[in-house]
Amino acid sequence: MKIIVTKNYEEMSAEAFRLVKEVVKENPEAVLGLATGSTPLGLYAEMIRDHRENGTSYRRVRTVNLDEYEGLPASDERSYAYFMRHNLFDGLDIELKNTHIEDGTAAAPEAECARYNALLSVLRQDIQVLGIGSNGHIAFNEPGTPFDSVTRVVTLAESTVRDNSRLFDRIEDVPRRAFSMGLRNIMNARRVLLLANGEKKAKAVYGMVRGEVTEQLPASILQRHADCILVCDEAAARLIS
Ligand code: PGA
Repeated sequence: MKIIVTKNYEEMSAEAFRLVKEVVKENPEAVLGLATGSTPLGLYAEMIRDHRENGTSYRRVRTVNLDEYEGLPASDERSYAYFMRHNLFDGLDIELKNTHIEDGTAAAPEAECARYNALLSVLRQDIQVLGIGSNGHIAFNEPGTPFDSVTRVVTLAESTVRDNSRLFDRIEDVPRRAFSMGLRNIMNARRVLLLANGEKKAKAVYGMVRGEVTEQLPASILQRHADCILVCDEAAARLIS
């Protein structure tokens, strides 16, 4: 695993942006694996700024997102589909039909997971952006997730429900289940770019980088990825440096 430690969140985002832009410049039809959450917001803001100032085009880029809450339609402001449009896609020239995410309202969840897995086998990520949960999850692959997992409906850990409750009026409103890419889908990416910032992530980052490779800390599987880059700020890197 290659590790880049930056001074702060802004520098982490700038470094992440440099790596994503490199992929798009090299291949205008690249497949970007994208993530939601607070961590990649700075990266997305940089992509939008660069698109406006320098005209970098995403017209032929394809995207696949990691996960979506069960039960929330794309029109719901708390859905990840909405998050992506609001925080990234609306600011780029990307075609919405080239952006993919699980349908949280699918009437047949198993068929929806099968559809998404089939899509991922065609749209292999040239780069997969990831955040990390304070419990070491990546996407909604919580501790105990089998390494050979693929897209399926999962139950969120209590700590994840708490971490994500800041985006909901009440903790009871946080969906308890979600569709999530599995660890095998993530490991299939050509390159993985994991971003982490802040003291709250230091322990999970330590486990991911220096701990044993164990299903109890899902992100530790990335030690086995041939091209994984961790970009984190000094606070998140505190225990590894
Ligand atoms: P965050 O979430 O970016 O909002 O911290 C990361 C995650 O849970 O994967």
